[in-house]
Amino acid sequence: MSNGVEREQWGSKLGFILAAAGSAVGLGNIWRFPYVCGMNGGAAFLILYVAIVFIIGYSVMMAEISVGRKAELNAVGSFRKVAGGPWVLLGWMGVACGFIILSYYCVIGGWTIKYILASFTGLMQAGAEGKAGDIFGGFITNTPQVVIYQALFMLITIFIVAQGVGEGIEKYCKILMPMLFVLLLVLIVRSVTLPGAGEGIAFYLKPDFSKITGPTLLAAAGQAFFSLSLGMGCMVTYGSYLDKQTFIPGAAAQVCFLDTAVAFLAGLVIFPAVFAFGVEPGAGPGLTFVTLPGIFSQMPGGAVWSALFFLLLMVAGITSSISLLEVVGAYFMDELKWTRKKTAWTLGIVIFLMGIPSAYSLTGGLKIAGKDFLDAADFVASNVLLPLGGLFIALFVGWFWKDEAEKEVTNQGTKPFGLHTPWVWVCRIVAPLTLAYIFITGLKW
Ligand code: PHE
Repeated sequence: MSNGVEREQWGSKLGFILAAAGSAVGLGNIWRFPYVCGMNGGAAFLILYVAIVFIIGYSVMMAEISVGRKAELNAVGSFRKVAGGPWVLLGWMGVACGFIILSYYCVIGGWTIKYILASFTGLMQAGAEGKAGDIFGGFITNTPQVVIYQALFMLITIFIVAQGVGEGIEKYCKILMPMLFVLLLVLIVRSVTLPGAGEGIAFYLKPDFSKITGPTLLAAAGQAFFSLSLGMGCMVTYGSYLDKQTFIPGAAAQVCFLDTAVAFLAGLVIFPAVFAFGVEPGAGPGLTFVTLPGIFSQMPGGAVWSALFFLLLMVAGITSSISLLEVVGAYFMDELKWTRKKTAWTLGIVIFLMGIPSAYSLTGGLKIAGKDFLDAADFVASNVLLPLGGLFIALFVGWFWKDEAEKEVTNQGTKPFGLHTPWVWVCRIVAPLTLAYIFITGLKW
């Protein structure tokens, strides 16, 4: 190890999968996926999304993990070590992206904390009366309150990252992720049996391909990269703590599958309820927070279910936010030799401050090019920087790093990977062309 200190590693292969899945499964699946899907036409979006995840997302994920495991460094250091030249920009772009995403991620993470508490103070009643939207609107326009919860969410993130990668993160993920899964299943049963749910199921599962446009494609790609934590060096960083025996194609497949399953289930909870309660499916970022209280209010012991759900959602968010802070932090620890504690606290506080404009923009007060600041930050990061990062990582691995990549994914030739040739061609041609096409049509250059 370069600085004479043994680099940290995951405790086990399962540890890595859970941590990587913990990073992938987050607010992106339960808060972002349903509203983006709702704004982009429902079922047709879902099909595009799944195709992008399993063809492009899976390939890019393997590319990222391979680079990280080979280099054993942070995102910037990894690209400098295995690639050099302009490819290092990819690492920088990732670190920048980590700053941007985490800044507003903590704002939404704060909402989950607020909702845990609100479950016991009037949220259920408002949900039962169809007034959950008023509660949501009242909360997000109260900036000081939003900022307090945002700070709390960031504090928890800092606290865990300051402890290190092995113990804390792994242990939490092992218990809490399965709980979230089971709770989603319970909620689906409640949601699809609400009167009027059928229309929502049709919206979500019966595709209308005329709804697909350039921006829809871009939204699907952005959502896929965001949800899988790709395109910004997160999987490079997590891969850098991975032992040499783990079979990367298998681990990546499990992460993609789990992540997609949770997003899909979240949609099955939200959309039937959206239609049952007469909410607009294209209502935007508040969708999940407005429809769920309605569902809970119609369950016996609703307040307890609600609090438990938002608690698990918060935890899912934390296992993602720590990965975002880890990407940025790994750079400062590896390259500038900052201690873990100093890194977590300093960066955490800076990023918290960067998130305040996003929190404030919920009042409708701060707009960029017609979008709220939060939406604008999310658009730039998710729909531009992440897919762009993915495009270049795929190009790099497919054209310039193919032989090394082959050794890495087959564990030096000891474990055959049957889809190796298709994987390389997806990296070389399919992913770059598709993503380039999506950009051109989606951004209307
Ligand atoms: N994948 C996380 C989620 O779905 C967000 C995230 C994006 C985390 C990028 C790390 C890197 O919530």
